Amino acid sequence: MDSHYDSRAEYHEIHMHGAWDRLRDLVRDTFGGIGSDGVIVDVGAGSGLGTLMLSGCTDAEIIALEPSTTMRAMMMARLDTLGILERVTVIPEPLPEGLRDLPGRVDGVIVAHMLGHLAEAERNGLFEWIATSLAPGRTALLTVSAEPSTEDTEPVVQERAVGRHLYRLTSHMQAPGRYEGLFEVIDRQRRVVRSLDDATSWHAVTVADIRTAVAGHNVQVTEPQPGVAQISAMAMS
Ligand SMILES: C[S@@+](CC[C@H](N)C(=O)[O-])C[C@H]1O[C@@H](n2cnc3c(N)ncnc32)[C@H](O)[C@@H]1O
Repeated sequence: MDSHYDSRAEYHEIHMHGAWDRLRDLVRDTFGGIGSDGVIVDVGAGSGLGTLMLSGCTDAEIIALEPSTTMRAMMMARLDTLGILERVTVIPEPLPEGLRDLPGRVDGVIVAHMLGHLAEAERNGLFEWIATSLAPGRTALLTVSAEPSTEDTEPVVQERAVGRHLYRLTSHMQAPGRYEGLFEVIDRQRRVVRSLDDATSWHAVTVADIRTAVAGHNVQVTEPQPGVAQISAMAMS
């Protein structure tokens, strides 16, 4: 499958570290106690930054679902370098088809920075699978939009130095459901030597949307920090 990320992976992933730093404590607190008999699914795992974080805080088996060939290649290289390939099963199918390849009972799920790519029926299918597959007492962690925005946000600029170049991402969330992004590579003379448009559709998904989707299941939905939702399966009494 040709993915939006295949040609953008090179530029995208170096700007994700801040987002993962903000999740670090929550990932450890949510999944840290899960032992080697547990299974955690990383949905839309990308280049493996979250898979890597999971592997460092739990001994659980990990299943990483990622449809982009380039992002998967980056993840595989990262896992191999760390010597943890045998702990991670990689599934290349996108949602919704990829749900068929996931186990019916899991001990944790992480869905980071990807829900906005899914159409309503696809994400509701994902929420339904989570609500019916989480083992009692276990939790899924999902990044969401802080609130449903009806207005354009201000553009955000992120920059990383890569040797003699500066890699810049200018991102602009536009209502409704549109993301405008621009990757630029800038040399020491301030010339743009390469650039790539990153525009795509991006649906705002809130904690309230998740609550509505899983109503009637034996789960609880909480917001441990702004922009993050947790779905927790009730423990057996
Ligand atoms: C912004 S990246 C985030 C990657 C990773 N979760 C992270 O936070 O670093 C979004 C990821 O979602 C994946 N994705 C997009 N549509 C998908 C779908 N229908 N099913 C599964 N993954 C999808 C993309 O290939 C991409 O790797």
